Amino acid sequence: METSCRICSGPVKGSIDLGVQPRGNAFPKPDQLAGEFFYPLIVGMCDSCAMVQLMAEIPQEVRYHDEYPYRASNSTVHSEHFAGVARRLLRTELTGHDPFIVEIGCNDGVMLATVADAGVRHLGVEPSQEVAALARSKGVRVLPRFFDEETAGEIRAGHGPADVIFGANVIAHISHLDSVLKGAVTLLGPNGVFVFEEPYLGAVVEQTAFDLFYDEHSFVFSVSSIRAAARLFGLDLVDAEPLAIHGGSMRYTLAKRGARLPTAAVGELLASERARRLDRPATLVELNRRAERVRDELTALLTSLRADGKRVAGYGAPAKITTVTNYCGIGTELIPYVCDSTPSKQDRVVAGSHIPVVAPSVFREDRPDYAVLFAWNHAKEIMAKESDFAGRWILYIPEVHIL
Ligand code: TMP
Ligand code: ZN
Repeated sequence: METSCRICSGPVKGSIDLGVQPRGNAFPKPDQLAGEFFYPLIVGMCDSCAMVQLMAEIPQEVRYHDEYPYRASNSTVHSEHFAGVARRLLRTELTGHDPFIVEIGCNDGVMLATVADAGVRHLGVEPSQEVAALARSKGVRVLPRFFDEETAGEIRAGHGPADVIFGANVIAHISHLDSVLKGAVTLLGPNGVFVFEEPYLGAVVEQTAFDLFYDEHSFVFSVSSIRAAARLFGLDLVDAEPLAIHGGSMRYTLAKRGARLPTAAVGELLASERARRLDRPATLVELNRRAERVRDELTALLTSLRADGKRVAGYGAPAKITTVTNYCGIGTELIPYVCDSTPSKQDRVVAGSHIPVVAPSVFREDRPDYAVLFAWNHAKEIMAKESDFAGRWILYIPEVHIL
């Protein structure tokens, strides 16, 4: 299978095949299972610009509908992280006369609430109504739209140029990234910055985190691919900063061409990516082989635990669980339920594998022998919260192991 790159039109060959998959965050109600949507989840890297991308494209209106269930404030660590991001931007970039920040995909206002509290001019661009309402309840101003070049032009006409455009765990979701980059050029003031943080290809490869691939992640970025994409659209990559969040992310800072000098970190990370061959499609082929091994070992472990009469539950229902359970063919016979603290996911099921999502209280009363930790990026917070759990944790990242 070959397609052309969404950024530079170069050739992209499929290297990772995660089978036929439903939407990661669909979480249908038990009576909504007829006619579930499936597509082939194949991932490739562009030969020319090294951008890692899904071969298929799921329309954004289908993914970010009004009841989109993801809540960015879903953990203490995430809430504190984004309050910290806001405080830092207020201190470093939003310091001039009447500064203005735009956030693409502000979700429940986890970042902009701090900006609103500081009385700084801001606008969240958020098409999903339920999360937008949560943001508004925190005093955040929201434009209910998808961000693209046209929206950027309208915001600039109505509010003037932006000092900062921010996005977290959203820019890599947007398949029309070219239009977003053009929009950034339109909306930013001469010394403005476009700052975004997204799961990092280096972390995905290093940890065999194949479950980071699902329909919403149209791209998985690297410093090399973002630098190439920025250049194509008149921007420079001027900083890159590794982050621990979401199992390993990178924060990228883009500025208008020639406006700012790149930091030393950019050159260092580019060199490290070349040494780790993160700009080579063969690296994805190798990742595919390791994902197959995880799949085989995880299903073998769960099958043998079932044969031994052990009771196994799932913990955490991030979109990642959809990829893992559908790729591995894990259903309720191996994992009868998964608990998750997000009310909008409870009393629903994981798309495709149909594992019911229940409240954490069900898990605590049930006291299973084993729990598969699907929200592995929150391991510390969850294990501390569940310190009374007397069973054992099963992790499958970076390889299958029992704690
Ligand atoms: P995320 O990694 O994509 O943010 O998703 C994490 C999921 O894990 C989210 O659905 C909330 C859930 N979760 C819990 O159920 N309990 C917890 O203590 C934490 C931190 C997360
Ligand atoms: Zn390309």
